[in-house]
Amino acid sequence: MNLQSKDTAGTDKLEPFIGEAKIRSRVKELAAQIDSDYAGKTPIFIGVLNGSFIFISDLVRAVKVGTEIDFLKLSSYGDSKISSGEVKLLKDLNCTIDGRDIIIVEDIVDSGLSIKYIRDLVLSHQPASLQFVTLLMKRGLSNLDFDIKYIGFEIGSEFVVGYGLDYAQKYRNLKEICILKN
Ligand code: IMP
Ligand code: MG
Repeated sequence: MNLQSKDTAGTDKLEPFIGEAKIRSRVKELAAQIDSDYAGKTPIFIGVLNGSFIFISDLVRAVKVGTEIDFLKLSSYGDSKISSGEVKLLKDLNCTIDGRDIIIVEDIVDSGLSIKYIRDLVLSHQPASLQFVTLLMKRGLSNLDFDIKYIGFEIGSEFVVGYGLDYAQKYRNLKEICILKN
């Protein structure tokens, strides 16, 4: 694809990192794992907006188990590449999660602050079970006191965009994941 045509800021440099085919096959593998773990169940997939919107749409179409879908929205990084260290809830759930199997779908886990916040929120509603699936996980997250069961790719500390992930709301529509260098 022509990355240059998506480079509206002029100064941003995008370096291809994880290509479309690689993403597609990993999403299939994650879906197969979920299918075997949730056989006979209908989990609620909860996407964390905005970053997970493309991943969740591919993931729910790749699974064979029954699905229900809802979304949460948390405060974002704004236009920064660094977390503010504070999480706020911008859009709450609409579904009832009591007694249900919940799968939180994230684009990327960095500091872990967002998923810790989500975990507390969801657990306060007594779900039957709770697991996380994240497309990307930044390496070196040491202070997480629970497991992320489904991880697409472990990456380093680079800032990435594409396939839903943004920098200042840009580049979400890239079909591949790129490293942003500016
Ligand atoms: P955490 O709360 O620090 O784990 O941050 C998680 C959220 O920050 C993700 O859901 C993304 O929205 C955003 N984020 C973290 N790292 C990146 C990145 O490399 N590119 C784009 N967004 C990111
Ligand atoms: Mg996010």
